[in-house]
Amino acid sequence: MDTTRTSEDQSARWNGPSGQVWTEFQAMMDEMFRDFEEILVEAAGPWGRVLDVGCGTGGTTVAIARRLGEKGHCTGVDISGPMVEAARARAEREHVRAEFVQADAQDHAFEPASFDTIVSRFGVMFFGDSVRAFTNLRHAAKDGARLRLIVWRGAEDNPFMTTAERAAAPLLPGIPARVPDAPGQFGFANRDRVHRILEESGWSGIGIQPIDVTCAFPESELTGYFTRFGPLGQVLPDADERTREQVVEAVRGAFAPYVRGTEVRFTAACWLVDARRNG
Ligand SMILES: C[S@@+](CC[C@H](N)C(=O)[O-])C[C@H]1O[C@@H](n2cnc3c(N)ncnc32)[C@H](O)[C@@H]1O
Repeated sequence: MDTTRTSEDQSARWNGPSGQVWTEFQAMMDEMFRDFEEILVEAAGPWGRVLDVGCGTGGTTVAIARRLGEKGHCTGVDISGPMVEAARARAEREHVRAEFVQADAQDHAFEPASFDTIVSRFGVMFFGDSVRAFTNLRHAAKDGARLRLIVWRGAEDNPFMTTAERAAAPLLPGIPARVPDAPGQFGFANRDRVHRILEESGWSGIGIQPIDVTCAFPESELTGYFTRFGPLGQVLPDADERTREQVVEAVRGAFAPYVRGTEVRFTAACWLVDARRNG
């Protein structure tokens, strides 16, 4: 999704254009990623204190808080001010008791040993120093606490995600390249690297399983989706009108295999990552 390397870059990105687009498309993204939300709600269980890392506009946080009711509490942490604001508004709108903190999860001073479960849906691939971040999260976890993450596998397993940039490349030079292992959408694609990061951060019982989930969204949202998200979304606004039109036509054509009537359907190839804090 991006090629920026430092936490500062990520903060600027998520407090800027990416935060804006995710906030704008929050309903669509939540619908599209509903199955992942359910996997994390199940992991959180029926009680306890839960932390949702990189919670964005709070879809998962609110779903977990609703499930916990009076038997627990869910906190969402996110580096993006606009997304945290949207998350708080959602919790209020839905009359759900959830707390949101705007902070860099990499080094935020969480209350030590305070969470029974730490979860994340696509929110942990953006740290400048992942070992530091997961060490910090381990300190926030109680002894025996569970960690459950959903992250993307590689671009080669997720051709849908790179369709737009591949189709637009001949018409639009300068689309940022995906850099392996750099912070961004595919930053945790390398299974061995994820295992190593968690091990070096002191987590135990590490399990990393592939999961393939069918996702869908309305076809009417397709152009908005590919013109606003990802590397193409970063550069398309700066193109002249003629180029923009050509790009939209070419990219829509390239997405044709994913269009089923009024829906766009694709497979999200992800890792389901589990670990424990032991001691
Ligand atoms: C791909 S979005 C996922 C949002 C949300 N979990 C969801 O599934 O809708 C990634 C989120 O991670 C957040 N993020 C990136 N770096 C972060 C950091 N260092 N600390 C906390 N949040 C971070 C972004 O602001 C963004 O909300």
